[in-house]
Amino acid sequence: MSQPARRQLFVTTALPYANGNFHIGHIMEYIQADIWVRFQRMQGHQVHFVCADDAHGAPIMIAAEKAGKTPQQFVADIATGRKPYLDGFHICFDNWHSTDGPENHALAQQVYLDLQQAGLIETRTIEQFYDPQKAMFLPDRFIKGECPKCGAKDQYGDNCENCGAVYAPTELRNPYSALSGAAPVLKTSEHFFFRLSDPRCLEFLSRWTTSGAVQPEVLNKISEWIEPDAEGRPKLGDWDISRDAPYFGIEIPNAPGKYFYVWLDAPIGYLASLKNHFDTGGARTLGENRSFEDFIADTGVEQYHFIGKDIITFHTLFWPAMLYFSGRKVPKAIFVHGFLTVSGEKMSKSRGTGLDPLKYLDLGMNPEWLRYYLAAKLNGRNEDVDFNPEDFQARVNADLVGKFVNIAARAASFIAKRFAGQLGAVSTDGAALLSHLQGALESIAQHYEQRDTARVLREVMLLADRVNEYVDANKPWELAKQEGQEQRLHDVCSTCIEAFRLLTVMLKPVLPRMAQQVEAFLQVQALDFGQARQLLGAGHAILAYQHLLQRVDPQMLETLFEPAPAPVAEVLPGGEAVAPVIGIDDFAKIDLRIAQIVECQAVDGSTKLLRLGLDVGDGRIRQVFSGIASMYKPDDLVGKLTVVVANLAPRKMKFGVSEGMVLAASHADEKTQPGIYILQPWPGAQPGMRIH
Ligand code: MSP
Ligand code: ZN
Repeated sequence: MSQPARRQLFVTTALPYANGNFHIGHIMEYIQADIWVRFQRMQGHQVHFVCADDAHGAPIMIAAEKAGKTPQQFVADIATGRKPYLDGFHICFDNWHSTDGPENHALAQQVYLDLQQAGLIETRTIEQFYDPQKAMFLPDRFIKGECPKCGAKDQYGDNCENCGAVYAPTELRNPYSALSGAAPVLKTSEHFFFRLSDPRCLEFLSRWTTSGAVQPEVLNKISEWIEPDAEGRPKLGDWDISRDAPYFGIEIPNAPGKYFYVWLDAPIGYLASLKNHFDTGGARTLGENRSFEDFIADTGVEQYHFIGKDIITFHTLFWPAMLYFSGRKVPKAIFVHGFLTVSGEKMSKSRGTGLDPLKYLDLGMNPEWLRYYLAAKLNGRNEDVDFNPEDFQARVNADLVGKFVNIAARAASFIAKRFAGQLGAVSTDGAALLSHLQGALESIAQHYEQRDTARVLREVMLLADRVNEYVDANKPWELAKQEGQEQRLHDVCSTCIEAFRLLTVMLKPVLPRMAQQVEAFLQVQALDFGQARQLLGAGHAILAYQHLLQRVDPQMLETLFEPAPAPVAEVLPGGEAVAPVIGIDDFAKIDLRIAQIVECQAVDGSTKLLRLGLDVGDGRIRQVFSGIASMYKPDDLVGKLTVVVANLAPRKMKFGVSEGMVLAASHADEKTQPGIYILQPWPGAQPGMRIH
């Protein structure tokens, strides 16, 4: 097999929105890209593989506000949850960053200025719905009202879920803001546009999209945006890249109060994460000594983005045009995959699916089962993939364990027991089998390059079949009992071990952890495609066989898909049933703190409420209203410690804003069993301490 010249690759996956944990669809994308990256590295190529959180945009800003956090704190909290997933599924990103990092602020502003220089930015005044109560322009999905076609209530600003009609938010009847309930008003504002309809852009895009940068099925989908229609006009219009304050994003240079729309700075986040990887020394550890600027400008460096089918236009039209017209290098290709469903069910944005990746890991299910299964389904085309539990179990148990792992299990014990752990000479039939396997390396590598891992695994399993046929024909367990068959036994078992090593090379991008165990067991250097042309040879010593891979236990799958435990129905003496079970993660969302009551007053016009001034250790006094006036006199409370929910979203009440909630106990039936009792910690607790 000819060893191609050392390539330099820059690879990313799509940047996930920082508004929730990963679902299994994200994990599929990472596994697909990770396999490809590992394959490239096994070919001796240099790969920089990065990702980041997509931090900006109105939905994240609003979610943060609901959670009572700053957007920065909100996305930082999401970021801390990423690691267990990535480590758990052996995803080998070289860097994980955020689109809110300083690199991205600088890069996005520079790209914009370069586009402006190229004459491709223009401003226009547009009219949009504005929430007078929230004092902000409303994104389409935060405007609701009655469908103009069928009259269905509570429909979103862009389409009707009842009749399927598509319309502009201004067409809704009785529109209201989903944020405040207020009736939105139309208001004008100046917006910035990227002039994608400029003939230069269309000319570039029609060239780039047909240069092999996108899969044929993807080109089919996007050509209507670029190619003229019957009236001679393509569908691609200018792109509105600005949003008005308040917005969580990057400020547009020389335009106070204007921010980049999240999709402008999100892909630039690919470059920002790469820059951060270079600036923090990560690139140097991979043998790259140039600066980020030199590396990214090098036309020899190949840039690839793995993405799902829902974000094709952003990546195959807007992003390459942004790069090209700002004088930067364009991606070599965009790799689009389809969507993952679980037992035929679509992923929900908010809930994911019944397949929770962390639960999978917590149950002790092997991450390489999932890597293997998904790889067996992904073929490099934009097609949906289904996770089916029975199919999963069958493929892992029958193919991976039954066909592959068994080869080693069947041969290794004889090598250890009868031949002092040393391989012997391989005779003609064994050599023929091994050279058949070696002959397949080249085409396996090509399928990996094409991301057709389904084909890779099909071919590897056919090769494993050949090896198992050889074992069945030679029956080492019988040779072992026959006299004078010592040498043949050694020959057959050595052939099996050599074959097992070759198959491991072929599977290594998919099963990195198992390959590592095999390397240790065979006492060999890190396996790659190049050295597979050489056999281990007679005299090579291996270690005793250690069990490599468990079968999938159907019980595990059952537990994996079990719905969360049902709520406990029993009513306790307090008059209420215990609330539905939550996980520790849910509990961790509630930030309980020790607070000192430094001020306390009655509230004019309320017999129930006391106004508390709380010191939660952060150097300021929080105002919290609490319905405990019937039980406590203000003076009795001043100076006492209590417990407060410190991260509850501030709530506007008739008497002022309440910035938290003091914990207090009461019976569910206040009428017959009145009394409300606030909590007081044991001595020693200090204001600001968290309650875990
Ligand atoms: N933040 C944007 C991407 C910005 S890239 C500059 C985004 N985020 S996302 O979290 O919604 O999606 C991240 C990736 O996950 C996308 O490539 C998306 O296609 C992919 N998937 C989301 N649901 C999926 C499945 N059900 N199956 C497979 N991939 C899916 O879009
Ligand atoms: Zn309708």
